[in-house]
Amino acid sequence: MDIQNLIQQAIAARKFAIAPYSHFEVGALVVTDSGKIFTGCNIENSTYGLTVCAERVALFKALSEGETMFKYVVVVANTPTVCYPCGSCRQVISEFAPKAEIICANLQSVYETYKPQELFPHAFGPEDLKHNGG
Ligand code: THU
Repeated sequence: MDIQNLIQQAIAARKFAIAPYSHFEVGALVVTDSGKIFTGCNIENSTYGLTVCAERVALFKALSEGETMFKYVVVVANTPTVCYPCGSCRQVISEFAPKAEIICANLQSVYETYKPQELFPHAFGPEDLKHNGG
C-alpha cells in the first residue's frame, strides 16, 4: 500500500471538514484488510461537545458497513509536525482497529507510524468489563 497516496486521499477528505469553531480541519481514512478505503473529516457542532473527530467518522463509516478488520488508520492536519489522534480516538482505534498501523501526517506528507498499543498503552477494553471490580 502506497502510504503517500493514502495521505493524499486523507488530505482530499479534509476538504469536507466542518470546523467553523476551531478552524482546525482534519482528514482521515481507514483501510480495511480487503483494501477498501473509508474517508472521514472532523464534524463540529455548535454545542462543541458533540463534535466528532475525523478518525472516528472514518472508522464508524466502515464499521457501520460491516467492516471489522483494518490495516491502516491515517490522520492528517495542517500542523508543523504530524497530527496525532486525540485520546478519545486512541481508545476507539485500540478497540476496533487494534492491528492497524496508525499513520499520523501533516499537509507536507511528513508522517510517523505507530501501532495502537504504542499510542495508547493499557487501553481499557471489553475484557475489563468481565471483572466487575472483584
Ligand atoms: N480533531 C480531529 O478530528 N482529530 C484529531 O485527531 C484531533 C482533533 C478535531 C476535533 C475538532 O473538530 C478539532 O480537530 C479541534 O480539536
